[in-house]
Amino acid sequence: MTTDFTVRPARPADAGRLAELRWTFKQEDHEGRPPAPARPLAEAEHWIHDRLRDGDWLAWVAETEGEICGHVFLCLVERMPDPYEDNNPVGYVTNSFVLPSQQNKGAGSALLQALKQHAHSAGLEGLIVWPSERSTPLYQRLGFQPPEELLELPLDT
Ligand SMILES: CC(C)(COP(=O)(O)OP(=O)(O)OC[C@H]1O[C@@H](n2cnc3c(N)ncnc32)[C@H](O)[C@@H]1OP(=O)(O)O)[C@@H](O)C(=O)NCCC(=O)NCCS
Repeated sequence: MTTDFTVRPARPADAGRLAELRWTFKQEDHEGRPPAPARPLAEAEHWIHDRLRDGDWLAWVAETEGEICGHVFLCLVERMPDPYEDNNPVGYVTNSFVLPSQQNKGAGSALLQALKQHAHSAGLEGLIVWPSERSTPLYQRLGFQPPEELLELPLDT
C-alpha cells in the first residue's frame, strides 16, 4: 500500500517536532513498557536545532496532511586532506523513523532516496548505516551492501 508523502529537507525550525519523534522512536524501540524519559525533551530539541543550523548534520522529513510523520538524518564525517584525491566526507545515516501508523507505505524509502540523491550531488565518498535486522532489506533495495573493508570495535561491554 502506498500513501502520498511529501519529502523535503529538514529545517532548524522543525527541531521541536523532530525531538518528539526521536522520543517516540526510542520509546517504541524499548523492550517492554518504556519507563518515563530520564532526560528532558528540550535537550533533544536544542541538539537537533543546533546541528541542523550548523550544517554538519542534515535531515529529511516526510509529511502527510501537513504533519511530519518520519525522518532520516545524515551526519557528515570529515576525511583527512589527501595530496592526490579529494577528501569529500563520508555520510553516516541514522535515526530513520516513520510513525508506526504510516510504516510500510513507502515513506522510509522516499526519505532514503532523497538522502541518496543529495549524497550523489554533494559528491560524498559513500554512506554507512547500522541497520536493524528488520530494516536491512530496505537499505539493500537502495543499494547498501555489507562492507568489504570496515572493521568495528564494539566498546559497549
Ligand atoms: C525502518 C523505517 C524507517 C522504514 O520506513 P517505512 O516507511 O516503513 O519503509 P517503506 O514502506 O519505504 O519500506 C518497507 C521496508 O521497511 C522496513 N520496515 C518495515 N517495517 C519496519 C519496522 N517496524 N522496523 C524496521 N524496519 C521496518 C522493511 O525492510 C520493509 O521492507 P520489507 O517488508 O520488504 O522487508 C520504519 O519502518 C521504522 O521507523 N521502523 C522502526 C524504526 C527502525 O527500525 N528504524 C531503522 C533503524 S536502522
